[in-house]
Amino acid sequence: MLYTSVLRPLFFRLDAEAAHNFALRGASLLAQSRLACRAVERVLARPAPRPVTAMGLTFPNPVGLAAGMDKNGVAPLAWWAFGFGFVELGTVTPVGQPGNDKPRMFRYPAEAAVVNRMGFNNAGADALAARLAAQTSRHLRPPFPVGVSVGKNKATPADRSADDFATAASVVQPHADFLTVNVSSPNTPGLRALQNAADVGKIVRAVRAVAGGKPVLVKIAPELDGDDLRAVLDAALTEGVAGVIATNTLSTATRPGYETGGLSGGPLRALAAVKVAQVRDHVGDGPTIVGCGGVATGADAQALLDVGATLVQIYTALVYEGPFLPAAITRYLP
Ligand SMILES: Cc1cc2nc3c(=O)[nH]c(=O)nc-3n(C[C@H](O)[C@H](O)[C@H](O)COP(=O)(O)O)c2cc1C
Repeated sequence: MLYTSVLRPLFFRLDAEAAHNFALRGASLLAQSRLACRAVERVLARPAPRPVTAMGLTFPNPVGLAAGMDKNGVAPLAWWAFGFGFVELGTVTPVGQPGNDKPRMFRYPAEAAVVNRMGFNNAGADALAARLAAQTSRHLRPPFPVGVSVGKNKATPADRSADDFATAASVVQPHADFLTVNVSSPNTPGLRALQNAADVGKIVRAVRAVAGGKPVLVKIAPELDGDDLRAVLDAALTEGVAGVIATNTLSTATRPGYETGGLSGGPLRALAAVKVAQVRDHVGDGPTIVGCGGVATGADAQALLDVGATLVQIYTALVYEGPFLPAAITRYLP
């Protein structure tokens, strides 16, 4: 209520990216102080642990922050204080890059949706590694799994993509509990063309070779379907992925009425559940599935767990529902 009736109307007066930056700055300030985080945990009443073990890691609860919110790892301890069970930082690329021109993030309140075409704006893998190392030495590392999503620089030619993924992974790996190969953002030209068996196999092999034994996941697009989906999953499994994140955003390329970019939130919810079920059908019991797309309530999270996810992630619903959401979702789960 505090968020939806007081803070959200103020945030929504700002352009979507400005509001995002404002919220992230607040979270990053909070994450500088263990004491302040403990106070926030009390106020938000961090939910009782509902531990999940997956990929050799223990998650205090199955509700994570999806990639893209904290690309540069400025606030891991704050995400813990808000009640999350894990966080995925990034997507980071080997070299920092500015991303696409602004405006590049748009709200669609009637559908509780967002379209973004950020384009992997990030400070680079070295900066993230240095920041995570500093957090560890200052005892500001949260007691939950911290994953890092890796991608390729826009300027890197397609045939050198695997090198970019491996470079970013090798730099951040010592500070990450898991790594995600992101071949599914619609906002880097040519990236989704890598969602084929040969390229996914090559990229996963290159990343696993430098991952230091850390679990490697692949994040797929919601449009990946049928034989193409099965071929990508088979290639990833052959190369030893520990998990699959289903899904990234839906491209608006064929959806009139939306800005160009990736659509997330409400309109993605049903398709994300279909994709989780399809992935589970194909991969069987072994790999971990992280369900992502349109989760805004405990029932939405449960629906993804029911069709085969072990963990879930949220991003867009935080914009609409605020920081109380992860705790509320966790409390709903049995
Ligand atoms: C502004 C914005 C930036 C995003 N950036 C990334 C990113 O860098 N890497 C990534 O894998 N996913 C990124 N995503 C996708 C989310 O991680 C998630 O897969 C998607 O938004 C669906 O979940 P949701 O409906 O809960 O938002 C981004 C999403 C948004 C809204």
